[in-house]
Amino acid sequence: MFPDAYIFMVQERLKRRLKRICAEFLPQNVLVYIYNSYDIVGDLAILRLTDMSRKYVSVIAEAVMNVHKNVRTVLVQTGPIRGGFRLRKLECVAGENKTTAVHRESGCAFFVDVEKCYFSPRLSHERMRIAKQVENGEIVVNMFAGVGCFSIIIIRQSNAHKVYSIDTNPTAVQSMRENVRMNRVYGKVAPMLGDAREIIEKRLRHVADRVLMPLPEKAHEYLPYALLALKKTGGWIHYYDFEHAGKSENPTAKVHSKVAERLESLTVKFEIPFGRVVRTTGPN
Ligand SMILES: C[S@@+](CC[C@H](N)C(=O)[O-])C[C@H]1O[C@@H](n2cnc3c(N)ncnc32)[C@H](O)[C@@H]1O
Repeated sequence: MFPDAYIFMVQERLKRRLKRICAEFLPQNVLVYIYNSYDIVGDLAILRLTDMSRKYVSVIAEAVMNVHKNVRTVLVQTGPIRGGFRLRKLECVAGENKTTAVHRESGCAFFVDVEKCYFSPRLSHERMRIAKQVENGEIVVNMFAGVGCFSIIIIRQSNAHKVYSIDTNPTAVQSMRENVRMNRVYGKVAPMLGDAREIIEKRLRHVADRVLMPLPEKAHEYLPYALLALKKTGGWIHYYDFEHAGKSENPTAKVHSKVAERLESLTVKFEIPFGRVVRTTGPN
């Protein structure tokens, strides 16, 4: 006999497999062309479709709404995530025509417009993992904060003193302010609009016990500014990067060497005690 909680978890996971939930509506030769995973953000479902599965979009959208009774809108991502703000083009294919939602995660609520701001529910485990490491009284700088998820979860889950929460996208910072209000962390999470490099140089030199860099595209370039934000006595940097790795390669070891080389060139004393694959994207 399996406990109810385990059965519930397995059912929830199976619900996220698009091939499975479409199996009774679509022929096998179409199912092979469907991306298996999709995101649920509040009451929005966000899917990616291949050209082959595109003509079955209404059947697929209906199947998703059937399984997720709380979903009111199904969006299809029609292009890659791109640009400085990390945005994607979306098309509404079923339900109410909207791109905003309130998403709940780790006891917090986040208002997000998924067309105008970056947001991924797939980082929930990573956000909690970081929040659990934050110690009493810490000051944290989140260099690429989006709508404030890491920052707010840290404040709600730890006894951190303050999180400076920077983003260059005005809509993301406006939503972050709304999220600070909604989660009652006013004065603890400080939303800051602008480029992380400029803000740290002008206002946040040597203030932080911990710096977060959740933007793989820029982390390597911005590493000197993460170091500048750290207290002179040192602290932690959470560094994220993309790394291509063939079957025989270890992506974590590759990033380790890349970061070590960069820190050595900056003549910094450092240790890299831990690394892990947060998410896989694309083949290899
Ligand atoms: C991958 S998202 C961050 C996601 C966020 N941490 C979360 O958990 O949802 C990266 C964010 O960095 C912002 N960004 C890009 N360049 C930046 C810069 N130079 N300074 C500050 N923020 C920047 C983008 O607008 C985007 O919101």
